[in-house]
Amino acid sequence: MNVVLLGPPGSGKGTQAQYIVDEFGIPQISTGDMLRSAVAAGTELGLAAKKVMDAGDLVSDDIILGLVNERLRLPDCTQGALFDGFPRTLPQAEGMVAIGVTLDAVVELLVPDDVVVERISGRRVHQESGRVYHLTFNPPKVADRDDETGEQLIQRPDDTEDTVRERLAVYYEQTAPLIDHYQQSSSEYFKTDGTVSVDEISVSIRSFLRTFSS
Ligand code: AP5
Repeated sequence: MNVVLLGPPGSGKGTQAQYIVDEFGIPQISTGDMLRSAVAAGTELGLAAKKVMDAGDLVSDDIILGLVNERLRLPDCTQGALFDGFPRTLPQAEGMVAIGVTLDAVVELLVPDDVVVERISGRRVHQESGRVYHLTFNPPKVADRDDETGEQLIQRPDDTEDTVRERLAVYYEQTAPLIDHYQQSSSEYFKTDGTVSVDEISVSIRSFLRTFSS
């Protein structure tokens, strides 16, 4: 089962990915998390990506396709994968097909811009695992600490209001064309209201995905 999660920054892709991974046992491939790991490791790729990410722009298609291609060779991807934040451009969508991924379903989270800005300003993350929290909507059990490891949570450097507005502009210009692209393709397309509770969204997405997993 290969599934793409599509939606603007802060629409809840990473949050929902955690539930999908738990139920269906396919790995989450988050290009944002992969890039942040490269930044944290201080690799050449990470240093170049950091400037682009901090400005809210997109890393080049070639780099992203190289990362995803490499990730898909790992044995945990034999039963499929959940793509979170990838593809983000039409060339990435075409590149994904070229590296042999047959997509079963696309899930789009619908969230208006003002909600995105509110969510992103309150977001906190556990850097190591990518687990996502929100100060008000999805707080950790202990303030500023990851529920599983107890380690310190951080605020992403690209989570400032100005950068979020730039990321939204980039989304509408470069990623939103994928909505039409996928609605006209043979993959199943499922849109869901991303403004209701995390649990309600998760129930609706997982019930849709169960039709592919049997
Ligand atoms: P990436 O990490 O992919 O960021 P994004 O797509 O902008 O998405 P976010 O991680 O910001 O949000 P999300 O939708 O996962 O929401 P979340 O679940 O965290 O990319 C970062 C950067 O890397 C890009 O800007 C780009 O530079 C680069 N990059 C990555 N992939 C790339 C690619 N393919 N090509 C080129 N460049 C690439 O939720 C947000 C907050 O809301 C959280 O606090 C959460 O707790 C809360 N929340 C979630 N759901 C709900 C709900 N239902 N109700 C209330 N609160 C909620």
